[in-house]
Amino acid sequence: MILTDEEQAVLDGEKGAGFQKAMELVVALGKVYGAESLVDIASAHLSGASYKTIGDGGLKYLSDLAAGGAKVSVPSTLNPVGMDRGRWKEMHISPEFAEKQLEIIDLYGKMGIRKTCSCTPYLGDNVPKKGQHIAWAESSALSVANSYFGARTNREGGPGALAAAIIGKTANYGLHLDANRRPTKVIDVSDFGGSVFDYSLLGQAVGMEMGRGVPYFRGLRDIAIEDAKTLSAAMAAAGSVALWHVEGCTPEAKDGLDISGLEHISIGKEEMKAAYDKLNTADDVQLIALGCPHLSPKEMHDIASMLKGKKKRNRDTEIWFCTSESVREQCTEDVKIMEEFGPVLADTCMVVAPIEGTFRRTATNSAKAGNYLPTLCSQKVMFADIPDLLKVIE
Ligand code: F3S
Repeated sequence: MILTDEEQAVLDGEKGAGFQKAMELVVALGKVYGAESLVDIASAHLSGASYKTIGDGGLKYLSDLAAGGAKVSVPSTLNPVGMDRGRWKEMHISPEFAEKQLEIIDLYGKMGIRKTCSCTPYLGDNVPKKGQHIAWAESSALSVANSYFGARTNREGGPGALAAAIIGKTANYGLHLDANRRPTKVIDVSDFGGSVFDYSLLGQAVGMEMGRGVPYFRGLRDIAIEDAKTLSAAMAAAGSVALWHVEGCTPEAKDGLDISGLEHISIGKEEMKAAYDKLNTADDVQLIALGCPHLSPKEMHDIASMLKGKKKRNRDTEIWFCTSESVREQCTEDVKIMEEFGPVLADTCMVVAPIEGTFRRTATNSAKAGNYLPTLCSQKVMFADIPDLLKVIE
């Protein structure tokens, strides 16, 4: 890999131990993946923010970096953390967990990272632009950034994204290069309803069918940001898709992409039913958790409209609505209605919170949560659309 004099100086420790450590990691990743150089990034989005997922080892790593003077060089946002900072008691979180979690957020803050903690940073103050190189972790967010916005990022891990944020560069390989952004399979979609839940099923079906690669969808109409985040999350969890195109819709597909000679996969009712069946492992639930990825203002409004004028009758089942602090602040009227049923939690989610200490059976409308709740949170899962889930508590 060829480094500029300035990059080499950082690697030699001239900017301090924190920057040196970060450069070492970015260069090491570049060598593993055959990058020839580094590329400047416009922004970063970091995962590894929940104490549940990074533990004491991660806390120590962050403390060392911060003590070494590391600071981010580009606008950087953070993924959800293990609790709502102001309402962790309502989430059955222990004071010990809360203390460590707050320490982690503080350390990120010391390094200059914005303390908004959401997996939908593009709905807030970190909006990627077409053609920009960025270093994003969080599998759903980075796929939205690549596909819906046309920015360029690999599927970064938490430490890699943080290191890139510190030096303001990442290794130039993978999805930063034109050659790797071309479609690898054509997905012909039929009998598609077009609801957000249908996008969850579609993403699950495609993730199960193709695992990795770059799908090129045909048969979808214009897609909204809610559809994009749901589809991205599902394909990233059921497979490891980090970039997708929709014919006539997404930025790079609009520019024209060559799909001649590619294998076709048909997704229709049968494949969507198989996706649905795979994720359903519970008949009754203790917790209904909505907002994976975090609820957008439109989704908040839609849920509030469904709940308006109704009463919570089922006292045995809790419901959590997960969103970002900024969306919660924007939607005060909707929040009032939703709070009659359960807490609107900010900057956390059902997967990165330690729910396994309290619940064993959780319901979700998200294929991503449906994949992760059994493995990361020891939950049996009910997977259904929001109107059906709300009937459980009405
Ligand atoms: Fe976001 Fe948590 Fe789902 S981080 S994408 S709500 S698993």
